[in-house]
Amino acid sequence: MSSSESKPPVAIHCRPLRPDEADEACALARSVFDRYVAPEQDEKGCRMFHRFAQPSALLRRHKTRYATWVAVDGPRVVGVLHVHARNHLSLLFTAPERQGRGIARQLLHTAATSGGLIAPVTVNASPNAVTFYAKVGFTPDGPELLKNGVRHQPMRLSEWPSSAPAPRP
Ligand SMILES: CC(C)(COP(=O)(O)OP(=O)(O)OC[C@H]1O[C@@H](n2cnc3c(N)ncnc32)[C@H](O)[C@@H]1OP(=O)(O)O)[C@@H](O)C(=O)NCCC(=O)NCCS
Repeated sequence: MSSSESKPPVAIHCRPLRPDEADEACALARSVFDRYVAPEQDEKGCRMFHRFAQPSALLRRHKTRYATWVAVDGPRVVGVLHVHARNHLSLLFTAPERQGRGIARQLLHTAATSGGLIAPVTVNASPNAVTFYAKVGFTPDGPELLKNGVRHQPMRLSEWPSSAPAPRP
């Protein structure tokens, strides 16, 4: 994926998740996970993810230092970001047909500028997303790990870039 591909602009808006959007946000996370992440994980890791990305579990976690932002296009949720303790990315997913247009970058920017995401920020990146995280400023933090059936590359962003990139459009 590269910025040189010409894709039509999308009019998206990022904001905190409303509780009535939890079903749609979690369905998006699970379906994007199944398509892009699951092929590189084992069955145990996939089952664990599906339990983590249930709407009731996600909303319950909001009582324990988690917060969630969504990218919406009209009434439709097209991206989701779930953060723990304002410094660890737990879920970040963009709808397949909207990928590569700045939505994940905009979700991170919205969470950061509202004080919901404070550097240093960590993430356990799935192997397919390592290049994306590197593009937005994360660097590997140790070797790739396999924990609870989940293969991931620990990554860390020490500081936000001084000028946050403008979302497209
Ligand atoms: C990773 C993901 C969230 C990125 O979302 P996105 O909205 O497409 O990301 P953006 O458009 O903001 O991308 C920012 C930059 O990263 C690049 N990029 C995005 N996804 C990429 C990928 N999978 N591989 C390489 N580069 C990628 C974009 O082209 C863009 O580059 P540019 O600034 O040079 O134009 C999305 O691809 C996704 O949902 N992937 C599957 C699920 C996943 O792996 N989630 C992370 C779990 S830890």
